[in-house]
Order: sequence, then structure tokens, then C-alpha cells
Amino acid sequence: MTLKRKYYSGNNFRRTNSIEELRRVARRQVPNFAFEYVEGGSESERTLHWNSEALGAIRLVPNTLIDTSTRHQRTNLFGQEINSPLIIAPTGLNGMLSQRGDIALARAATKLGIPFSLSTLSNVRLEDVARNVAGRLWMQLYVMSDRELTSNIIARADEAGYEALVFTSDANVFGHREWDQRNYRQPGKLSLRNMIDVAQHPRWVFDVLVPHGVPRFENIIDFMPPEAQSAQGGVAFVPKLFDASISWEDVAWLRERWPRKLIIKGILSAADARHAAELGCDGIVVTNHGGRQLDSAVAPIEVLPEIVEAVGNRMTVIIDSGFRRGTDVIKAIATGADAVMIGRPTLYGLAAGGEDGVTHALSILTTEIDRVLGQTGCRSLEDVGPHLLA
Ligand SMILES: Cc1cc2nc3c(=O)[nH]c(=O)nc-3n(C[C@H](O)[C@H](O)[C@H](O)COP(=O)(O)O)c2cc1C
Repeated sequence: MTLKRKYYSGNNFRRTNSIEELRRVARRQVPNFAFEYVEGGSESERTLHWNSEALGAIRLVPNTLIDTSTRHQRTNLFGQEINSPLIIAPTGLNGMLSQRGDIALARAATKLGIPFSLSTLSNVRLEDVARNVAGRLWMQLYVMSDRELTSNIIARADEAGYEALVFTSDANVFGHREWDQRNYRQPGKLSLRNMIDVAQHPRWVFDVLVPHGVPRFENIIDFMPPEAQSAQGGVAFVPKLFDASISWEDVAWLRERWPRKLIIKGILSAADARHAAELGCDGIVVTNHGGRQLDSAVAPIEVLPEIVEAVGNRMTVIIDSGFRRGTDVIKAIATGADAVMIGRPTLYGLAAGGEDGVTHALSILTTEIDRVLGQTGCRSLEDVGPHLLA
């Protein structure tokens, strides 16, 4: 089968049948520098590739001759029902893919009945997202060297009623994303080739640049010096805000301040998972940041069994990095995860078709989950367990 026949090659995202097809449409809709920002991993991108290879290496053992004519994928997360075991992961600079991308993602999540996580580095202010979206909102937090900024985000997220605070622990030192740097002649300044490429994407220019100008880091804008407030200046400035001194003491500090659910995102060992549980966290995200931080880090799915065994009965265990198929999601649930965070797949949807594109990405995944449930002899996620894993 030729590549052309195997993968959809048109521009209509609605006709795509898989996340891979949607990715191909997304790639054509936005300039190269924006797509590579989404797509890439750190250094040799070993972990980026390993994430999906590790998921692919797991095989399922279906049960047969079970009536699965009525099935659903609802589950409970922090005491409330969600319609699918998915959460949209926090991603910064969503406004670079589509106008007010954070709101488009949050609305699509709400329409499906799953939580949306807003990045500290969003392009829409957290209050603005809360005002525009009535669904379950989680606030991702980078604890930065300017602790006043951190306190400011926590207080505002509390005031705006965010359900959970997601503290990202694996970005103490910024990942070296070499592909990202190739697109710039100096920090924040696109290379000539990339400027020409931008001009070749008028639809993107009119969607993203014309209405609001270059997207800014609106959540933290008050804390940035004037020269760093544009996206160009900000991209160079933001890595300097990351703080290598963050420690478990910060988790204890956050636990005292944050009144609702506290989730640590960046756990890859049972020992760290136990530590989070001992400090009173409500959940963890087992993740390697989608292969964007430590290159050669283990794939989350590899360490999930020991983490579930250590803390699965005490806290909510969420996983992400590399999930592209319904089978991937079922493998994680069978191993004991409560839900899966989705990063790039919904960004492909956003780039390809705004809010409708995100809805389409989610519907590809939920359709696949539904099909896998039926094919493995499960009527709901309650029937999914380790017996399905070879
Ligand atoms: C473009 C992009 C931006 C991201 N920005 C953030 C961020 O601001 N905060 C954060 O905690 N994680 C961030 N992440 C990591 C995601 O939350 C998530 O862990 C990762 O994307 C999951 O892997 P996947 O993309 O393979 O699904 C980002 C990921 C991508 C692809």
C-alpha cells in the first residue's frame, strides 16, 4: 500500500479517521516553526519515539463471546463522572495554532465532558478561560524563580474556581529542543526561510496574527519586562523563569496554600509517587512531558505497573506521553491508570480546525476506545483489567 493510499492526504480534517491523518492535515495548515514547536522532543528525540514504541509493544488478549452490544466509557475522576477517560493536557502557546486556542480546547473538552488543563504559559488569561467555559478546569503551575508570580497564579486560579492545581515537576531545567532553535536566527527571531514559510500560510496569518497580533503569555504578562511581553521576546525570556531549585518543600508549600485537588505532573518512579502521596497530593501524572524534557527518560507506560502498585489505592493516577490510539488508552487503564492526558493529538485538531478540529480529535479517540472495548469483550472500563494484557 502506498503512503498516499494509506494516509489521507486532503485538507478536510473532518474526513480524517486517525490521529496520524489529522496530524498530516495540521502540518499543512500552520507554518513549519509552529508545527515543529508542537511536534518535537528534546535532543535526539529518543524518548519522544520510545513513548509510542513502548505502547505499541504491549499486546492485548481479548475475551470473546461476551455481549458488548451496550457499552460506555464513562468513569469517575475525583468524585465526578467524566464521559471518557481522557483529559486535555496543559500546553503552552496554544494561541500560535489557532486564535484563542486555549478557549477552543477548553470548550471542546467541556462538550465531551472531560477536564481541560490550562498552562501557566497560555495565551488566554486564566480568568478569561473560566469566564468563557463552564466545564471542569485544571490549572497547570510552573513554580518559577519569581515566587511572587507563582503565588499570583495560585491565588487567581483559586479565585476563578479551578478544580485542580497541576504542579509540573519535570521542567526544573528546560529541555533542549534543538529543532526549535533551528527555526530562529537568534532567540525569538525567525530565520528568513521560516518568514517566507509564514507568508505562504495566509489562512494562518489571518486566523492567528491579524485578530490579536502575535500571541502573548497573557497569564504572566504583568511579571515580564516590557521587551519580553511579545511572543518573540517572551520565547527567549520564559526559559529563564524556570527554577532548578524546586523541591518537595514546594509541594508541601503548595499543599498548604491550595484548597482543592493537587496533582503532581512529572512522576516516573514509585518512590516519587509515594512521596507525593505522603505529602497529601490527590493525584499524579506519570509522564515524561511528551519527550520534551529529559531525553532517554523511560516511557511512562513502562513504570506505570510499579507506580500503581505503590499508590494506586491512595491517589488518582493519570498517565500521558505518546497516546495516539484507543488501544493505547485501554492498555493504560488495564494497567491501573485512572485516566490519560492527551497533548499533541488535540493540538493537531486545533491546528487543523480550531474548536471543531479538537472535537474531531477527541471523537477519533473516543470512537476507537469504544471499538476496543467491544473487541476486547468489555462493556465498560470496569471490565478492563490486567487480564487483557499479554
Ligand atoms: C506544544 C506543547 C506544549 C507543552 N506545554 C506544556 C506546559 O506548558 N506545561 C506542562 O506541564 N506540560 C506541557 N507540555 C507537555 C504536555 O502537558 C504533555 O505532558 C505531553 O504533551 C503529553 O505527550 P503527548 O503530546 O505525546 O500526548 C507541552 C507539550 C507540548 C506538545
